[in-house]
This record gives sequence, structure tokens and C-alpha cells, in this order.
Amino acid sequence: MAARAAVLTGLGGYLPPRTVTNDELPRQLDTSDEWIRRRTGIRQRHWAGPGVSTGDLAVEAGHRALRSAALGTGDTVGMVIVATTTPDHPCPATAPDVAARLGLGQAAAFDLAAGCSGFVYALATAAAALTAGHAEHALVIGAETFSTVLDPADRTTAVIFGDGAGAVVLRAGTRDEPGAVLAVDLGADGTGKDFASIPGGGARERSLRPEPNPDDRYLRMRGKEIFTHAVHRMEHSSAAALATVGWHVDEVDHLVGHQANLRILHALARQLGMDRQRVVSHIQQAGNTSAASIPLALADAAARHRFQAHDRLLLTAFGAGLTWGSAALTWPAPTPGRAHP
Ligand code: COA
Repeated sequence: MAARAAVLTGLGGYLPPRTVTNDELPRQLDTSDEWIRRRTGIRQRHWAGPGVSTGDLAVEAGHRALRSAALGTGDTVGMVIVATTTPDHPCPATAPDVAARLGLGQAAAFDLAAGCSGFVYALATAAAALTAGHAEHALVIGAETFSTVLDPADRTTAVIFGDGAGAVVLRAGTRDEPGAVLAVDLGADGTGKDFASIPGGGARERSLRPEPNPDDRYLRMRGKEIFTHAVHRMEHSSAAALATVGWHVDEVDHLVGHQANLRILHALARQLGMDRQRVVSHIQQAGNTSAASIPLALADAAARHRFQAHDRLLLTAFGAGLTWGSAALTWPAPTPGRAHP
């Protein structure tokens, strides 16, 4: 009998209704639709707006993924992971509240902070737990409200990031089933911690100052350096995952990379020796949604009937930390998110 593995069985994405096109960005940013499209590929992003938190978006995406997995009454979700850099509170974690709002009883629930690599880290964590027999089903959500940490006067970040959430349901199955997560590769390099960071709001700042510096609540990013590292790390991580699963790059049907910049995705494909037709992109509509970007790209592509059962997918991400990670999986039948709309 084939070895135990996590199998993708549900998928859902949620973008808050308010779209912000490039032309609608605040005038003070001194940017243009032409620059943003040419340098990033982004045409619009979604911003959640007042009173809407990461947990709210996570609940919407989680609900859609659970519905598409069509779990039976006897099936219990034993683990809920919310990958996010914009949690609802420093304490408690966002995931237990999300699990409770989704009616998932007393499932183990925790947040995972690995920047834009968070979803791949969470997928790997849940897959390991299912393979080890710690749960039979897991809900993995990437959710962000980056609009809450954007400096409205910083054109290097404010034009790029968007809000959203994407989620998958995994169940314990076997490696020979379509939908199986077959290999993962994870890595980090903390010497690059200052390349992208939110300086305030944590213990470091509180240990230094009784009053927070208002500017320190914003994301600061060294975009050019991140660009170079992102391509390099995702290329090597992808190669490691492919080596583990034993696929040649030509056998990969779809490259689903973290949606940070269309030029990064194209440079990555070039480095890997893949044609652009295999690159899945969603950044045009949603911007960089950090930990939500890969499941949102999956949900969008699935809704457009892009994947067939047994297709080979390579997921790869890079983010603040620095962190990176990749996963190789096949596409399930029927396609989650379409069979049970
Ligand atoms: N609108 C107009 N001009 C802008 C701009 C904007 N929104 N942002 C930067 N510029 C300007 C710069 O000031 C610079 O001007 P100068 O030549 O007069 O100095 C010029 O455009 C080029 O800037 P540069 O930083 O070299 O642009 P870039 O092509 O590297 O694009 C990013 C900037 C941020 C889009 C790109 O580096 C990127 O996507 N990096 C990765 C970010 C990422 O992945 N983050 C998430 C993971 S942590």
C-alpha cells in the first residue's frame, strides 16, 4: 500500500470587495499606472477597509475551502493554521478565533509567521502532521491585511500590497492519489531580517521605548535586494523540491510562485528553464497578498479551469525573514472549488 500523505481536497479564496486601481492610489504617492504595470504587473489590489481584519478574511476563505471539500458529518478538522504577518492581535493568535467562527470545535489552531512564505510553511507543517497521523483533516489559511501596515506616503510599498485570504483543506490519504503533497523544501536566513520588516509593535521596541514611534508600525522594504534574493532562493528551493520528488523541470505543468512581482515570476521561470505559459499569475488583480498569494492564485486558476487532475504543480515562495519554501504536488480530481461551488 502506498505511503501516507496529505491530499488536497478543498480550496477557497476571498478578496474584500473594495478594489483600488493604480489610478485610484493617493496622488501624494507620485506614481503612475504605467510605472506600476511595467515594473510589477499589478493593475489593482483589494483593501479591506475600516473594521475588517485578517481573521475576517480568513473566515471567508476558510468557509469556502471547507465547503468545496464537502466534508461529511463524521469528518473532523483536527488542525487549523493561519499563516499571516498581519494577525488580528499580538496575543492571542488569530487561528483559534477563526476556527471557532468556522464551527471547528476544539481543533488545534495556531498562527504561523513566515512572511510571504507563510502559506508554504503552513502547508508543509499540516502535511507533516497528517502524514504522522496527528489529524485526519487540516485547514491551512493564508490571510493578510497588509493595507493596515502600509505607509500611505511610501510609494515603494503602498503600490504593491493588497489584502486577501486563500485556504486549502488537506486530508490524510496516500502518495499515489491525485492531490498528494509529494515533497517540500523550507529554508531561512535571519541575517537578512532587515530587508523587509515592521520595526515596531513587538518586544524589541517595547523593551526600548514606553511610547511606540508611530512610523515604526509601517512595513519597510529594500525592494531591489529582495528582488534578487527572491529569484535566487526560489530557484534553489524549487530545484530541491523537484529533486526530492524526482521530477524534471519539463514535467512541471504549473509554476505557482509567490505573487510579489510579475517580473520576479518571469525571472524565476527563466532561471528554472520554464516557458512563461506555465507561470500561474494572479498579481494583476490582487497585488502582493503575502501569505495569501499562493492559495489565492490557486483558487483563481482553478476557477478558470486551468488545472486538470494529475497535473504536476510546483509551489514556491520567498518572504521576510528571510524565508523561502517550495512544495510539489499533483492536482486532485475533482478540482476543489469547482465541484461544490
Ligand atoms: N512609482 C514610481 N516610481 C517608483 C516607484 C513607484 N511606485 N517606486 C520606486 N520608484 C522609482 C525609484 O524611486 C527609482 O527612481 P530613481 O531611479 O530616480 O532613483 C526607480 O523607480 C527605480 O527604483 P527601483 O527600486 O530600482 O525599482 P524596481 O524596478 O526594483 O521596482 C519594486 C521596485 C519594489 C517593485 C521591486 O524591487 C520589487 O518588486 N521587489 C520585491 C519586493 C517583494 O518581493 N516584496 C515582498 C517580499 S518581502
